[in-house]
Amino acid sequence: MTATIIKGTEVRDKILEEIEAEVAEIKEKHGVVPGLVTILLGEDPASISYVTAKIKTAHKLGFNEIQESQSPDLSEEALLDLVEKYNKDDSINGILVQLPLPNHIDDKKVLNAIDPDKDVDGFHPVNVGRLMIGGDAIKFPPCTPAGIQEMIVRSGVETSGAEVVVVGRSNIVGKPIANLMLQKGPGANSTVTIVHTRTKDLAAHCKRADILIVAAGVPGLVKPEWIKPGACVIDVGVNRIGEKISEKTGKKIAILSGDVDFDAAKEIAGYITPVPGGVGPMTITMLMKNTLKSLKFKLGIA
Ligand code: GUN
Repeated sequence: MTATIIKGTEVRDKILEEIEAEVAEIKEKHGVVPGLVTILLGEDPASISYVTAKIKTAHKLGFNEIQESQSPDLSEEALLDLVEKYNKDDSINGILVQLPLPNHIDDKKVLNAIDPDKDVDGFHPVNVGRLMIGGDAIKFPPCTPAGIQEMIVRSGVETSGAEVVVVGRSNIVGKPIANLMLQKGPGANSTVTIVHTRTKDLAAHCKRADILIVAAGVPGLVKPEWIKPGACVIDVGVNRIGEKISEKTGKKIAILSGDVDFDAAKEIAGYITPVPGGVGPMTITMLMKNTLKSLKFKLGIA
């Protein structure tokens, strides 16, 4: 059996189309568009490339997009002032401070300063709490986990009663996706296990999984024989395993690999995401969805 490949680029295009239509409708009815500010300190190439993609997507959707490119030497106090400025700005519905921040800045302090109702990353403790409570309390699910759930649901994979095994316990992926999948409601209702570096028998847990979500950051960690035949495998790993020359641009680019041996795993799984082109494109998509949601909350139409 060869698995159905879940392409993040296709799911992304569909969701962006839905967002674009909704933005146009809100603009016509209410005369406003979603506003997103992205705050970037310094010139880290990976951060610049994320931020550039975010700006491009926001513009394409008709958002009001503000880019705050600041010096890497900006003081913590000045950054907190900047966050406060956008907390108070009525035209802004989402504030994103690009991580990682320079070492002289306490990132927790900065993330905690963002108004929870503009925290479209879903990293503020209030939004983490809302996610734990579940149901209507959830305002902004973190973008990568929300994207994973969309990919599973839109592929028609049954989640209710499914054994979901999450490999990795990070605050950005492992813990929140586990929380989303165990909630009462459509696209969830799963039985969830989180496994990690101290788990005794990783293989035994993975072999039970109807839905296996791997976010460990270890290339090839999950062996093909650990996959239950027909399972849905979501590979969140983005590991740089070398460099090559791009055929398109002639420039050096990273060779990326996931946490799962894709070629072998696709012969066993029922559904599988590739790396690159799987979960990756979903993060920015869900950021746009959360920003739109923030405006809808404000307008009382969410
Ligand atoms: N850096 C890399 N990914 C992300 C993200 O999703 N949000 C923020 N704020 N910073 C990031």
